[in-house]
Amino acid sequence: MSTDAIPDLISDAQTSEERFLRQIFVRDQMAEWSKHPLVMARADGVYYWDVNGKRYLDALSGIYVAAVGHNNRRIVDAIRQQLDTLTFSPPMHGTNPVAIQLANLLAELAPGDLSAVKFQCGGAEVTEAAIKLARQYHKLTGSPGKYKIIARYQSWHGSTLGSLSASGLKSRKTVNEPLAPGFLHVFPPTCYRCPFGKSYSDCGITCATLVNDVIDAEDPATVAAIMVEPIGHTGGIIDPPEEYLPLLREYCDRHNVLLIFDEIITGIGRTGQMFAAQTFGVTPDVLCVGKGLAGGYAPLSAMICSRPIADAFWGPLAQNPGFVEGHTFEGNPISCAAGIAVLREILERDLCANARKQGERLRGHFEAMAKKHGVIGDVRGKGLFLGIEFVRDRATKERFSNDLAFGVRVGRRALEKGLLCRFDPHWIAFGPPLVTTAEEIDAMAAILDRSLGEVLSEVNVRA
Ligand SMILES: Cc1ncc(COP(=O)(O)O)c(C=O)c1O
Repeated sequence: MSTDAIPDLISDAQTSEERFLRQIFVRDQMAEWSKHPLVMARADGVYYWDVNGKRYLDALSGIYVAAVGHNNRRIVDAIRQQLDTLTFSPPMHGTNPVAIQLANLLAELAPGDLSAVKFQCGGAEVTEAAIKLARQYHKLTGSPGKYKIIARYQSWHGSTLGSLSASGLKSRKTVNEPLAPGFLHVFPPTCYRCPFGKSYSDCGITCATLVNDVIDAEDPATVAAIMVEPIGHTGGIIDPPEEYLPLLREYCDRHNVLLIFDEIITGIGRTGQMFAAQTFGVTPDVLCVGKGLAGGYAPLSAMICSRPIADAFWGPLAQNPGFVEGHTFEGNPISCAAGIAVLREILERDLCANARKQGERLRGHFEAMAKKHGVIGDVRGKGLFLGIEFVRDRATKERFSNDLAFGVRVGRRALEKGLLCRFDPHWIAFGPPLVTTAEEIDAMAAILDRSLGEVLSEVNVRA
């Protein structure tokens, strides 16, 4: 092809025109989305600007990713330096110094004996790796019949077929069925709407004890692992009662079942400690992090497993092939350089403490909104991972109709006013960068408050 034949790139301004949007898939229904397309052009601190120059306060860290804020020079400089040194190492033949440094740093920071790390680019890749690790571990340690994975309804572990099979979100699963066999689902600890009709704390923590019953009923000799998000996201910030995760730990120990924490969202400071495992005081056998690990500066995720599991894969080749799992971009040096810089930034600026402090401030705002507007039934979450659930009637906990999609209306109104948050028909969540200041938290909450007030004055809340 002569250079004359190389097509020109369209300009930034044209990227929100429907004819050009038809050339790319996004996560929304495209025809709807293209009526008001959100196309971000740049970002700095806790702000985004779209291609039309409109500014947005980022109360979501993109999607729980921008842990140390946007355009953080320390991370940019670390990446620049790495670009000049090594951008790719051959994954079939080994790894690179930056990946080994980051693995050792994560092993230092992770609780208990979590100590061996597998890097990938996205969350789904490592939750899927954790599933494979559990199955291979049991094969290597004399329990080849253990293959079933117990996960939860309403959960999200990612879009690859294995992670999707573990996920429990019907809106994303049904269209892709049939999924992989060997996955079971249990109800999550949604105390505000207990699936067993009970009230905490007179409930005997049925949501946990039933997991033990399921292991028993399935035959422990067939169960490989339980995989949970310490705080569930897609079900509307499902924050478990304090007994829940310790009980899962106990059942896993009893039945030689691995406990996998999907900390793709909750990891890297979000709940006020480096890992939610520390917030809840429960150490899993395998912990998956992603999103905030490289803060959005490069794609990076990690699966961290305990020393005994890692040891099981450390054997003479004749009996042990090692961990059979891998992708081309695992341990990419650019991503790992970003990861090291992000972790240093969090540690040196004690951003976990800031997440706790600003999280309390945000919770205060949400609670004040609940009193003021009367349609917030519950405020949930930890640190800077907080959500509110909308109800038509606080006494009965009755929801707004699905058709009204109250939370979506509020979230869209907030977006119009320049606030990015996560919204669903029945809930809204915030997950701002860990660097967010008190003034920025106040500004985020003020926009949500105004948006909620406006929507309430427009819709028939009895609908
Ligand atoms: C809890 C959780 N696990 C896994 C994933 C999958 O991560 P990714 O989209 O990077 O594959 C996500 C993504 O949103 C998530 O929220």
